[in-house]
Amino acid sequence: MQTLTLIRPDDWHLHLRDGDAMKAVLPDTARRFGRAIVMPNLKPPVRTVAEAGEYRQRILAALPADISFEPLMTLYLTDVTPPEEIVRVKESGFVKALKLYPAGATTNSDAGVTDFDKVIPTLRVMAELGVPLLVHGEVTDPSVDVFDREAVFIDRVMRPLLDKLPSLKVVFEHITTKQAANFVWSAGENVAATITAHHLLMNRNAIFAGGIRPHHYCLPVLKREIHREALVEVATSGNPKFFLGTDSAPHAQSTKEAACGCAGMYTANNGIELYAEAFESAGALDRLEGFASRHGPLFYGLPANSDSITLVKEATEVPASLHYLPNDPLVPLRAGETVGWRLRS
Ligand code: DOR
Ligand code: ZN
Repeated sequence: MQTLTLIRPDDWHLHLRDGDAMKAVLPDTARRFGRAIVMPNLKPPVRTVAEAGEYRQRILAALPADISFEPLMTLYLTDVTPPEEIVRVKESGFVKALKLYPAGATTNSDAGVTDFDKVIPTLRVMAELGVPLLVHGEVTDPSVDVFDREAVFIDRVMRPLLDKLPSLKVVFEHITTKQAANFVWSAGENVAATITAHHLLMNRNAIFAGGIRPHHYCLPVLKREIHREALVEVATSGNPKFFLGTDSAPHAQSTKEAACGCAGMYTANNGIELYAEAFESAGALDRLEGFASRHGPLFYGLPANSDSITLVKEATEVPASLHYLPNDPLVPLRAGETVGWRLRS
């Protein structure tokens, strides 16, 4: 039986939601990962260190007693986030970054940034204090084709921003294109990227395989095969600028299987197993530990975890649905199918 032992990985991009939904999904992540960067796009969003502290306490209170897991908090950057809040971030120790959603780009992004010039004074303090900016890199201009929004964002927003603030630490989140992979590869050491398992495993044909597949709809949307190949290449390259971020984003079944379905795939129940599949297909299992367990901590200036996990190569069934909300379950990626690896408990 083939096994793979890794330093315990971390998830550098995760949606945990709140309340009952959070209680339902948290154990899936906490069983696999030592830490996770928790996205702030709640309703209302997490905008201050005080709110992040309360959210963190709710997460810790919901953790199963036998599991140690550290939520790393983020704030939602708005047009009016004051520079002084960044000083409080630095002092808190538990808020690790700010998240930039262009207003309207995705789920709960209405309070996002409408004018990038307005946030420059706050970003300047982030650059000075070494607080990373996590970027949802898509333009919202409705005249730009949905499949081009990430590539256009690089030219319209990312390059001008880094020209103004060349030392700002930036994570280009959930990159989906060859253009973003190339951009991050060639940028300075202060620029990194997360990559999801689903963007490593699927191209946009998966959205239309035999009919419309709402559970394969996420943002940024899946792209062409050449882009998937470029992501696999950089993820398995050993370059420390690229690291694991599942972007596991739970939505109840009724809101996914709808006339206007929500964006997001739930992958936390196979949060590391799916990456093992992708790295195995690329013949790069020996590079998984760097990507999953070492590169992220290096960028965030944290030590790697001190314990390990073991994966077993064994086709394992994925449940058709998981408990989420009363009478409204969660349909995970690969529901009713199998994944090629299993976490040894
Ligand atoms: O697919 C997505 N779902 N992309 C995002 O950027 C947000 C996320 C969510 O919160 O559901
Ligand atoms: Zn996300």
